[in-house]
Amino acid sequence: MRARITKAIFPVAGLGTRFLPATKSVPKEIMTLVDRPLIQYAIDEAREAGIKEFIFVTSRGKSALEDYFDHAPHLEEELRRKGKNELLSVLEETYMESGAIAYIRQHRALGLGHAVCCAHRLIANEPFAVILPDDVIAGETGCLKQMVDAYQETGGSMVAAMEVPPEKASSYGVLDVKEDMGSLVSVNGMVEKPEAGTAPSNLAVIGRYILTPDVLRTLRNQESGKGGEIQLTDAIAAEIERKRNVYGYRFVGQRYDCGSKAGFLQATVAFGLAREDLRDELAAYLEEMVATRKAAQ
Ligand code: G1P
Repeated sequence: MRARITKAIFPVAGLGTRFLPATKSVPKEIMTLVDRPLIQYAIDEAREAGIKEFIFVTSRGKSALEDYFDHAPHLEEELRRKGKNELLSVLEETYMESGAIAYIRQHRALGLGHAVCCAHRLIANEPFAVILPDDVIAGETGCLKQMVDAYQETGGSMVAAMEVPPEKASSYGVLDVKEDMGSLVSVNGMVEKPEAGTAPSNLAVIGRYILTPDVLRTLRNQESGKGGEIQLTDAIAAEIERKRNVYGYRFVGQRYDCGSKAGFLQATVAFGLAREDLRDELAAYLEEMVATRKAAQ
């Protein structure tokens, strides 16, 4: 039996400039798909995978994120008084056990690898997960749960992986595949955002990781890489060189890139259509829109 993965790091320090002006005062992770903030999807996925400790790496201007997980006694009282029990339970689902969340500040924007490294004292010497809340993954079983189950067989480190069109590979960390075993692939290496035409495959890293504490040790002394940032990909690549025990995991599920406007809109439509209370009205509207567009062409 392998060590259980009970801690997850959520790097949420990014400025979210792609969503300006909204992100001038609202952290990107609080932006909503239908009525739930992005961060709630990440937390729910982590909980399903057995995570008990949630470590947020934040930055200045992210206090709304901390408030979101607080109890809201006035709101609760009001809902109780009005007998709105359903809404009350919606609220209660967001509550976290006392002490289950830790917030750490990343004082300088030095990259994803640096953000993860900021949490090293809280992780100490055990394997841990990293979830990038921008990558929202819909599916029957959460992506991290699928990975945690697969990790029971493999050990080592694991990254979520997905095929992307070759021309998109330079937006991702990309795997150099050694052996393709279906859901699992073993890897020879990993490159962060390869130049166009140089990607070792079209299997891209998506924002879910299970990492050994060795990766954290590597990160502490790591030089900056692509874009002048300390890259998580480089620390994992170093782990591959040393131990050859890093795997890619092709998850089952639909991934939305909610770090981009188009991806965010697609996710909004998909999650809206998945909701029983909204489905019919939204579908009818979309059909009408498409028909009107076609007629105008
Ligand atoms: C980060 C990682 C990259 C990964 C991507 C997944 O990049 O550095 O390796 O493929 O997340 O979303 P970012 O999109 O934050 O630039």
